Amino acid sequence: MKPCYVFGNWKMYLDYQESVDLAKKIATMFSTPPEGVKMAVFPSAIAFHRVAEVLSSTTIAVGAQNTCWVEKGAYTGEVSAHTYRDLGATYTLIGHSERRHIFHETNHEVRQKLESALSVGLIPVICVGETLAERREGKVDETIEAQIRSAFTEVSVPANNAIIVAYEPVWAINTGEACHPAEAERVHALIKRLVAGLTDGLVVPVLYGGSVDVHNIAEFLAEESIDGVLVGGASVKSDVWFDLVSQAAA
Ligand code: PGA
Repeated sequence: MKPCYVFGNWKMYLDYQESVDLAKKIATMFSTPPEGVKMAVFPSAIAFHRVAEVLSSTTIAVGAQNTCWVEKGAYTGEVSAHTYRDLGATYTLIGHSERRHIFHETNHEVRQKLESALSVGLIPVICVGETLAERREGKVDETIEAQIRSAFTEVSVPANNAIIVAYEPVWAINTGEACHPAEAERVHALIKRLVAGLTDGLVVPVLYGGSVDVHNIAEFLAEESIDGVLVGGASVKSDVWFDLVSQAAA
C-alpha cells in the first residue's frame, strides 16, 4: 500500500509555547503511529528545535517552512537547509504560495532552494499553484507547467528519489474555498506527467493543499493521483488534526 501523507503547515499561527504544547499533545495522541500515514509538521523557525526534540521519540517528522539557498553567509534573517537538517528536519517546504506572493519569491529562487535542500539531504516539498486571475484567464496548466519546468529541468534527482510536490491553488489557501477534488486530480495527474517527462520517469508524491478540513479530506484522498494533503489552518488544533489523520488512516 502506498503511504498517505498528512502534513501540517503551522505557518505563523502559533507562538513558541503554543507550538511546544501542540507538539506534546500530538506526540501523546499518536504514541501508536497510524498505519500507512506519513505525518509531518512544519513549525515556525523559532519553535523548530524544541518541537523536533518533543517529536523525536515518535514517527511524526518535522520540516522547515522555508530555507535559504546558501549554506552560510551574510543573509540576515535567513536559516539554511543544513541548520534545519542538523536539528532534525526531514522535509522543507519550498516556494509556498505565501513565500511566492507575499515575499515575492520567484521560480528561480525556488530552484536554488530546491538544489540547496537536496544537497544536504532534506526532502523538498515544492509548492505550486495558480492565482485566481490565472485560473480565470484559463492559464492553470501554463502556470503549473512553468513552475514545474523551472524546478525540475535537469535537476539531479537524489538516489532515494525523494522529492514531493504540493499542488496548492493560491485562491484556495486559507479561504474556506477548496478546489473541486476532480479538478485537483486533473492537475495532480498533469504534475506527475510533467515531472516524469522532465526527469528519467521520476514518480513524485503530489499532495493537495488549500482549505483541507475534516469535511473534505476523504474526497481528496479518494482521488487516484492525490497522495496526501498539506493542511494549514486545520492543522493547529490537536483534535482536528487527530480527526484528519484518522480519516487518512481509514
Ligand atoms: P490552509 O493552508 O489549509 O489554511 O488553506 C494550506 C497551506 O497553506 O499549506
